[in-house]
Amino acid sequence: MPRKPAPTPPPAAPATGWDEVLSAFGPDPHPPAPVPPVEPPADAGTGPLATARAALERLATWVPIRSLARRHRRRIIEHLFAMDARDRYLRFGYAASDEHIRKYALSLDFARDEVLGIFNRRLRLVALAHLAYGQPLPGDPTRTMAEFGVSVLPESRGRGLGRRLFEAAALHARNRGIDTLFIHALSENRPMLRIATAAGAVVERDGSESAAYLRLPPDSFGSQVEQALERHLGELDFQFKRQARVLNDFVDSVAEVKAHFDASGRAAKE
Ligand SMILES: CC(C)(COP(=O)(O)OP(=O)(O)OC[C@H]1O[C@@H](n2cnc3c(N)ncnc32)[C@H](O)[C@@H]1OP(=O)(O)O)[C@@H](O)C(=O)NCCC(=O)NCCS
Repeated sequence: MPRKPAPTPPPAAPATGWDEVLSAFGPDPHPPAPVPPVEPPADAGTGPLATARAALERLATWVPIRSLARRHRRRIIEHLFAMDARDRYLRFGYAASDEHIRKYALSLDFARDEVLGIFNRRLRLVALAHLAYGQPLPGDPTRTMAEFGVSVLPESRGRGLGRRLFEAAALHARNRGIDTLFIHALSENRPMLRIATAAGAVVERDGSESAAYLRLPPDSFGSQVEQALERHLGELDFQFKRQARVLNDFVDSVAEVKAHFDASGRAAKE
């Protein structure tokens, strides 16, 4: 029986790295200069870097917001009609009837004011904000401010839509050269006051009513670009949802016609 050949020993392990090989020659006479730690820039909290970071954070929770026009009045009325008596009271500061709501919607001045909306996939207006320009500033009637009013349908609340509309309205007002955003809310309206105070507004309580004032910075190239981008993306999103709905309706009607022919075919056979 032939003998098994002796196993060949494994090759020697290669050097673990250049540092180990070079260390055999003694210490490096010209060591590389140590890399200084990177210090954050002095304007890290306020400069362009911070602005870019804030914009990225906003992008992560981005919601398409659309500027509404006269042709959206019917949807605006439907949105406000869907609110119950308490929400109407919180929104308008009085028990608004259907007639009040209709009058309010018909009186909206789309050329002067800004009306912003958020639509769901079925193109239902789930959140609505009205930014009314030309309100006199208390104590200085020569200057004007913008008043913000908002409503979100109950089933869409708590997802940040109210806050997003507030931020978008502040951006629009700022870009129009307005320096104060005003919110009139009942003191019991904690979500609305929370949105305003979180943005840095000063709240003046007067019993059951509160007035919040938010100072806006002057507009900048960045704020103008941000608004233009928001407008385009909001429009794109709406058109996309509209096409999807048309396609859905088409598929539904084809299915309906098919069902109809199937039924008549069966009836003819019988
Ligand atoms: C006010 C209103 C627009 C808020 O809409 P929303 O989309 O639910 O608001 P958001 O999801 O952006 O939440 C806003 C903040 O309120 C907070 N909040 C919600 N309910 C709260 C409550 N009961 N108490 C305290 N804070 C509350 C949220 O936690 C959030 O704060 P955070 O981001 O720091 O967590 C909505 O409740 C509404 O339509 N109410 C009826 C009409 C109205 O009151 N309009 C305002 C008068 S102009």
